[in-house]
Amino acid sequence: MSDATAKKEERRKFQAIRGTRDLLPPETASWNRVEQIAHEVFATFGYGDIRLPILEATDLFARAVGGETDIVSKEMYTFEDSEVAELVDLRAAAVTYTASLADETGLINFSNLVGNFTLAAETAFQIGRIPKTPENQNLLQSLRDLLGTIQNYRYQGDRELFPRAAQIRDAIRRVTFGDVISLRPEATASVCRAYIEHNMQQLPQPVKLYYMGPMFRRERPQKGRYRQFYQIGAEILGGTDAPGIDAEVIEMLMTFFDKCGLQGATLYINSIGHNADNCRRGYVANLKAALEKVKDKLGPDSQRRIDTNPLRVLDSKLESEQAIIATLPHIADHLCDDCKAHYAAVKRQLELRGVLYQENWRLVRGLDYYMRTTFEITAPGLGSQNAVCGGGRYDGLVELLGGPPTKGIGFAIGEDRLILSLQESGKAQAQQGRDVYIAWMGERAYAAAIRAAKDLRNAGFSVELPPVEQKFGKALGQADKLSAKYALILGDNEVSEGLWTIKTLSTGEQAKFPEPDLLEFLRQQKKVSS
Ligand code: HAM
Repeated sequence: MSDATAKKEERRKFQAIRGTRDLLPPETASWNRVEQIAHEVFATFGYGDIRLPILEATDLFARAVGGETDIVSKEMYTFEDSEVAELVDLRAAAVTYTASLADETGLINFSNLVGNFTLAAETAFQIGRIPKTPENQNLLQSLRDLLGTIQNYRYQGDRELFPRAAQIRDAIRRVTFGDVISLRPEATASVCRAYIEHNMQQLPQPVKLYYMGPMFRRERPQKGRYRQFYQIGAEILGGTDAPGIDAEVIEMLMTFFDKCGLQGATLYINSIGHNADNCRRGYVANLKAALEKVKDKLGPDSQRRIDTNPLRVLDSKLESEQAIIATLPHIADHLCDDCKAHYAAVKRQLELRGVLYQENWRLVRGLDYYMRTTFEITAPGLGSQNAVCGGGRYDGLVELLGGPPTKGIGFAIGEDRLILSLQESGKAQAQQGRDVYIAWMGERAYAAAIRAAKDLRNAGFSVELPPVEQKFGKALGQADKLSAKYALILGDNEVSEGLWTIKTLSTGEQAKFPEPDLLEFLRQQKKVSS
């Protein structure tokens, strides 16, 4: 490295990775407040806190959320969790070898590279440093066989040589060195995995769980859309699919938003039925036929979705497609009798609970596991990313992941968006200033100040105790900057007299108290102001 490059490296400024950000005070006070409200409200509905890993097997999401969804096919942070760096190098050397194989030296070099890789991989397989899966075993066996065949092609131009070399490269690429894992893009799949793993079906049903924490999706960052974002979610698993459950989950959610002070939130609901010919499958066939007729008027994304996932066309935000989408058939007209009755009962149950809703027949959601009830909540001040919560019913997901047949429903709130909306409406929590700033001067006063700080903090007051002596004027200026409510003034006089001075900074009023009365005075003041 040249000196200049080294200097440049030294000066490099590190910044948070695109789509991620630091959450700083005072904003974090709002985050803590909404999380506290979630803990309290969800507990009143009987939900328990579940803490889940951030890393999970990639297959879990592929199976649960769906391999064809945007989340799984494009947006996951995925890597091979391997401890075999040397194999990674040997693999790279073999698959990127570019010299001509028609040349004898080229062929020998290539065979050696493949041989080195195969031998090292076989050893790693035997001692369990790479996964002992049947796939790996088969790949290593075929590499051995292919290696034997190409070593025999010691003359130019064999027609078999190039296809065999291609097969070798392909096999080398497919040997797995570790588990393929992903940063979680959502947590419903993890909750279902945990339900199965810990045999929660043996607990009294239903099991009610909630979680909060970061999720990761490699989306194009914009206002309200991040690559690391935070969700607060809840899931209810097992028991029945009684419509009262759907309605109560939504009621809990609206109670939470209400306690947070979120204004102008709108709840949209829909039912997407279940996967049967006389229900959603029939509707999708119908929708597909209708879409084929208007295909020319749709954009390229929607055109592609006619084949891959016609329901997702209903999600389109493209202005030019809106009038066309409005003419498409509605799912409500194609629900089977049971799903229709379930949907009607969910709406009645919401009304019983005084929860206002709007129906939105286009609400199909972007994850594959949903059936019947789906819902979304939008909030003002968020621009195009205005969904602050999404959720729905997912009976059958636990079974799909290898567990017993289990009912399920839940939601996840986008915490970043919730905070953004609260900030826009002026409802976000400002960081509280200090209660007391202790302005002390002199050794004896410092000792008294340390004692006072300890007592006040124990009583729950936030206290700033400057570590170095300051003139009173400067100390009061500092107290002001920290938005302290009171300054406790401790000089040698106060300590000798045993009478402490407390100054109310908003009014400038001053009063003197014997040390033991100070705490009581502050307690009384707190009561008055709260
Ligand atoms: P989702 O609709 O993918 O559902 O996400 C739920 C919420 O997370 C969204 O409404 C939004 O507020 C927030 N969100 C999603 N992506 C981002 C992002 N890139 N940046 C900021 N916020 C984002 C789920 O995740 C399901 N697991 C919900 C669920 C739980 N369904 C049943 N149970």
